Amino acid sequence: MKAIILSGGKGTRLRPLTYTGAKQLVPVANKPILWYGIEDLVAAGIIDIGIIISPETGPEVQAKTGNGEQFGANISYILQEEPAGLAHAVKVAQPFLKDSPFIMYLGDNLVQSDLSIFLNEFKSQQLDALTLLCSVPNPTAFGVAKVDEKGRVLQLVEKPKKPPSNLALVGVYLFNRTVHEAIANIQPSARGELEITDAIQYLIDQQRKVEARQIQGWWLDTGKKDDLLEANRVILDTCLTASTYGDVDNQSQVIGRVQIGQNTRVINSTIRGPVVIGENCHIENCFIGPYSSIADGATLINADLEHSVLLQGATVTGVHQRIVDSLIGQRAHIKAAPRRPKALRFMIGDDSQIELT
Ligand code: DAU
Repeated sequence: MKAIILSGGKGTRLRPLTYTGAKQLVPVANKPILWYGIEDLVAAGIIDIGIIISPETGPEVQAKTGNGEQFGANISYILQEEPAGLAHAVKVAQPFLKDSPFIMYLGDNLVQSDLSIFLNEFKSQQLDALTLLCSVPNPTAFGVAKVDEKGRVLQLVEKPKKPPSNLALVGVYLFNRTVHEAIANIQPSARGELEITDAIQYLIDQQRKVEARQIQGWWLDTGKKDDLLEANRVILDTCLTASTYGDVDNQSQVIGRVQIGQNTRVINSTIRGPVVIGENCHIENCFIGPYSSIADGATLINADLEHSVLLQGATVTGVHQRIVDSLIGQRAHIKAAPRRPKALRFMIGDDSQIELT
């Protein structure tokens, strides 16, 4: 069994952050989203992993993620010149996949379920394709499936205006080699992409064994700012363990589950978990509230922050109004004069400079 993780595409919905970087590398609880997928696959015993990359962000993905040694995996990188669709990515990966069955994992998805359960079902039932589903309140934003009472998939539609059910396709799919024949027989959709839903529909129409299982636990598609903040909240809530490697002075208070990285200094501040703070950060005269992730090298002085994500090297100084629900890009600076607006809500891209005077 092999796996491919799709880490190409344009990432338009997380702009401006993704003007300068891959959306799959945006951190959730200080770890790139993509790495959660790699860890899930390795935990299910799949170590032969191909990562689909784009010409724009591929080098960064490759430099950060490496050859897989740190995950106990063998990672190959597969260049997809154009983001021409999920099925197109499988086509590009065929020389890597050969005739092997495989899992396709979308690199911007986070899934709590243990993949080995689905892997065993796929093998024991000798399925041609297995899709994972999750009941959602907004099915029009996803691929949607109609299934019978035995879990057989009857119909799939990509982002339908009138959804046939509320069961969204989660970004994890299991296939055997028959999917390559299906992809060779489909045409680009109205939006110009080779859709994996069309390839699966082809398998259904050819009477292949295509089934679906509903996942238990959470599933997060981190496409937009609020999804990313929600993913951050869920991961901090469910996975964070407390540890302190940095230096917390005795004027400071650390309450609940808080992780503080090496060489980070916390001075005269209150940190109320769950919160993760990376290495080499400087936190002084601050309140850092629940569900915040602060990446390496960030500086917060005289600031008040909650339910927010700060990327590497971001700086916030003198903002006494509470910063909430915000995503602040790498090396962004926010600097405020004392006294002014009552609330601030940001989505700020890398290298931004903002002064509130
Ligand atoms: O998140 C689940 C949804 O993912 C499913 O419900 C949909 O059926 C499925 O089509 C997909 O929809 P999205 O609109 O969210 O797909 P997106 O364009 O965001 O791409 C998903 C991942 O695949 C992302 O990490 C980028 C990568 N990708 C995408 C395309 C189109 C590639 O690597 N190559 C591509 O050509």
